[in-house]
Amino acid sequence: MCIPPTWRRVLSGLSLAWVVAQAHTPSASTTSSAQYTLPASVNEAPGVIPNIKDPQAVNAQTICPGYIASNVQKTNSGLTASLTLAGEACNLYGTDVESLNLTIEYQTTDRLNVAIAPTYISAANETQYFIPPSVAAKPEVEESNLVSDLEFSWSNDPSFAFEVTRKSTEDVIFSTKGRKLVFENQFVEFSSALPEEYNLYGLGESIHAFRLGNNYTKTYYAADDGATVDVNIYGTHPFYLETRYFTESDDGNHTLVTANETMPDGNYTSQSHGVYSRNAHGQDILLQAGGITYRAIGGSIDLYFFAGPTQPKVTTSYLKAVGLPAMQQYWTFGFHQCRWGYKSWQELEDVVGNYTQFGIPLETIWTDIDWMLRYRDFENNPIGFGDAPGQKFLQRLHDGGRHYVPIFDSAIYVPNPTDSSDAYPVFERGNDTGSFLKNPDGSLYIGDVWPGFTVFPDWLSDGAVPWWTDEMVRYHNITPFDGAWIDMSEISSFCVGSCGSGHLDQNPVHPPFALPGEPSNLVLNYPEGFNKTNATEAASASSALASSSSAYPASTSTDTSIIRTTPTPGIRNVNYPPYAINNVQGALDVSAISPNATHADGTLEYEMHNLWGHGILKATYTALSAVFPDLRPFIIGRSTFSGSGAFAGHWGGDNWSNWPSMIFSIPQALEMSLLGIPMFGVDTCGFADNTDMELCNRWMQLSAFFPFYRNHNTLSAISQEAYRWDSVIDASKSAMAIRFQLLPYLYTLFYHAHTKGHTVMRALAWEFPNDPSLASADRQFLLGPSILVIPVLEPSAKSVEGVFPGLTQGQETWYDWYNHTAVSVSSRANTTIDAPLGHIPVYVRGGSVLPLQQRALTTRDARNTPWDILVALDKNGDGDGDLYLDDGISVQPNATLTANLTVHNRRLDAVINHGGWVDGNVLRNVTIWGIENTDNKVKFNGHHVHQGNVQFDKIKKTLVVSGFNTSAWAGDRWTLEW
Ligand SMILES: *[C@@H]1O[C@H](CO)[C@@H](O)[C@H](O)[C@H]1NC(C)=O
Ligand SMILES: *[C@@H]1O[C@H](CO)[C@@H](O)[C@H](O)[C@H]1NC(C)=O
Ligand SMILES: *[C@@H]1O[C@H](CO)[C@@H](O)[C@H](O)[C@H]1NC(C)=O
Repeated sequence: MCIPPTWRRVLSGLSLAWVVAQAHTPSASTTSSAQYTLPASVNEAPGVIPNIKDPQAVNAQTICPGYIASNVQKTNSGLTASLTLAGEACNLYGTDVESLNLTIEYQTTDRLNVAIAPTYISAANETQYFIPPSVAAKPEVEESNLVSDLEFSWSNDPSFAFEVTRKSTEDVIFSTKGRKLVFENQFVEFSSALPEEYNLYGLGESIHAFRLGNNYTKTYYAADDGATVDVNIYGTHPFYLETRYFTESDDGNHTLVTANETMPDGNYTSQSHGVYSRNAHGQDILLQAGGITYRAIGGSIDLYFFAGPTQPKVTTSYLKAVGLPAMQQYWTFGFHQCRWGYKSWQELEDVVGNYTQFGIPLETIWTDIDWMLRYRDFENNPIGFGDAPGQKFLQRLHDGGRHYVPIFDSAIYVPNPTDSSDAYPVFERGNDTGSFLKNPDGSLYIGDVWPGFTVFPDWLSDGAVPWWTDEMVRYHNITPFDGAWIDMSEISSFCVGSCGSGHLDQNPVHPPFALPGEPSNLVLNYPEGFNKTNATEAASASSALASSSSAYPASTSTDTSIIRTTPTPGIRNVNYPPYAINNVQGALDVSAISPNATHADGTLEYEMHNLWGHGILKATYTALSAVFPDLRPFIIGRSTFSGSGAFAGHWGGDNWSNWPSMIFSIPQALEMSLLGIPMFGVDTCGFADNTDMELCNRWMQLSAFFPFYRNHNTLSAISQEAYRWDSVIDASKSAMAIRFQLLPYLYTLFYHAHTKGHTVMRALAWEFPNDPSLASADRQFLLGPSILVIPVLEPSAKSVEGVFPGLTQGQETWYDWYNHTAVSVSSRANTTIDAPLGHIPVYVRGGSVLPLQQRALTTRDARNTPWDILVALDKNGDGDGDLYLDDGISVQPNATLTANLTVHNRRLDAVINHGGWVDGNVLRNVTIWGIENTDNKVKFNGHHVHQGNVQFDKIKKTLVVSGFNTSAWAGDRWTLEW
């Protein structure tokens, strides 16, 4: 059929609140093909008042009885006990469970598990309480008779409560004392005391400041909403890091101090611990001064405490428990270009050609849903994306050392049974293997996504993963793509319930809202400050803008009825649970498949909703492992769960082309670091709405220091490839030059993330744990331990305020990347840094030794460039660094090379461990920053270096040595003395 040109997808999930608001204008797409547009009402349901906003809500603590512990038994790894209701059941938001099992396990020296679950569970309802280990990693006891610094204690006074204490300091890190445990079949509540002004991080995924403040409720219910501050969005990671700062007195007593940005210098220490709540149900986590309260609408209590006592130790332990981050292929660290609206292979080739013509590196070209025939997974649109021309294009692309990544949507189109020309074998094969979710009556659950009425894979069925794998293999045989971009996986649906049941003869239906480019959806906003910097563009846009509403319209659901439900003994109300979480979409079945959708083993989506996105990432990992045997699957996914980083990277989702979206990208990235998804970046220059030159300039530079570096744009917005503005070309090239030099460093950081659970992007608070003034810092960040980035995040700025940790205390030295000299500031507070448009302030930390390579248009070519070693001396004249190399693609590389680089006593030692990987590129030069003097008797491997190859700049305090005439990593070691 002919697709009307205006019939395009709205954002890969731009807040449905936004699109629903525009849904009442008739669509232009119904012109010739008589395509049926679903009415807006299909995605409307009676509203709910979130419990936390409901003045009538009863606080469970006031009426529920709590539990009494008995029958306490010691075990090899901890203890077990029985908990019984301490009084009459309250049955407030469900049915109280009379009897619970308490299990305490010391699992490793730094991990303690506290588990509370019903005593009587049958196979039939097991997943109502437990996440199957096959679905998400379940940490187990790894050592017996271990010695832990964590101690579990409990009391029955007045009802069961427990504490977890750090023995060495006697700090109580978790305490439910004075707070009752509530355990009902649709409501589980427990709560712990926290310091009044806590420093708590994590609990992603959110658009929120890095440090989570007081009066913040984190809701988990995976939602197709990417840009809204403080609501539930795509991912569910119920893990937090808490850091406590202390001052220490001479007699060893420590006193908790409240962190703030302007506190005076002092002698501080800190300790950090982590808490992971392994519960995937919809839930609210309430952070309030002095306490944290968990309220889940199902599941069990399954808490893991990580002793730390430092952030790196907590993170390593957490990631070892849920899954260490996947190693990425080397090329994935190149620059990626995408947009919604690339209409053909030819257009992709033109974009690639333009990047080359302007001399801007480009590694990977991506497509949004434009490649698909009527938005159906695994079928190319013959108009523009024909199979044969695609193969020829991809051959040329691959020959040039470049890559191609298409989007794959989570939902599968159901063909119209009355139209034989509408056949879709992908659906038939999945249906034949029982791979799709069902209704409670056993019929297919049929929702609505881009292609029309769709079904949804059931990752708990036996058929789904083999079917998905087979489809990926088949598609790759036709279109040799290089990675997978997984979208809409919350899992999103544009209607309430199984709205397609009985209506398949209307397929393909148009979504119940206007798409970009359709008449009611033509107006796009520009970033703040645009009219000042872009008078001409602004003038042409202003008339259109005048008629548009606010950039953030609220949902205008027409159904204003409100539902409050009460417990229904013996049967759960899964669509309207008695406790209403603070879901951004309102009722649980709005803009998402319904909680009563049923999996092959009888498990309801109610249990699995927050795990669906994790399921498709695991399935895609399996699929790509079949497509590319032995190669590291490259996957970027939208909805994630704790441990998803072991399978995939993540992008920040549907952000906006505005300055707040750029600001929030930093805390979102730091959060993802902490949660084990280091392969993270956001839609650079912004997704929804129009960008402008200034925003794109700053953003192309900022994202160059994020691990995943992609420019992506929505349909019908102005083009925003890096070559669209002269200034953005220059800015992108200069930031990319640094990124390319740092690629070996970035790759080595990923190796440490993958093997040891280290972070890649780092918060200042993590690298400088004894400086409480950095507890909230999220407008600057570090890449690994060595690179400090202080970006401009505002329009019309010529400078930026930044801090240089440890500098005024005399502990750290920071060198300006561009002029190689040490920064000198007089105060620990903000320093004004010159940062005209096109300049991103970047600093190297003293004590770093960085192996650098050179800029090229692709990472393949960059890997064949000479090596430079950059030594940035610390205050003692010391430094160290390392390097990991392999083929850059294999899951289990059979050849590796590591090098350790150490500087001490005016001597650099490179010690190389050969594991079979050969890198023949020459050592071009060694540069030393922060060198006071030299007698010019520089020796390489004990031999004097010719004077002509030694350049010392006394003013800048830099020494550059060249002329080595040897490959950098050939021998077992080399030394340079000065
Ligand atoms: C709870 O503990 C009892 C007694 O130890 C045991 O028989 C029962 O199987 C446990 N229940 C679960 C769900 O593990
Ligand atoms: C499900 O689990 C509860 C414990 O919460 C138990 O009392 C009940 O009998 C179980 N129901 C079924 C149908 O197995
Ligand atoms: C948190 O809310 C309470 C009660 O509404 C209020 O008294 C307090 O000032 C708030 N705290 C912050 C940090 O906003």
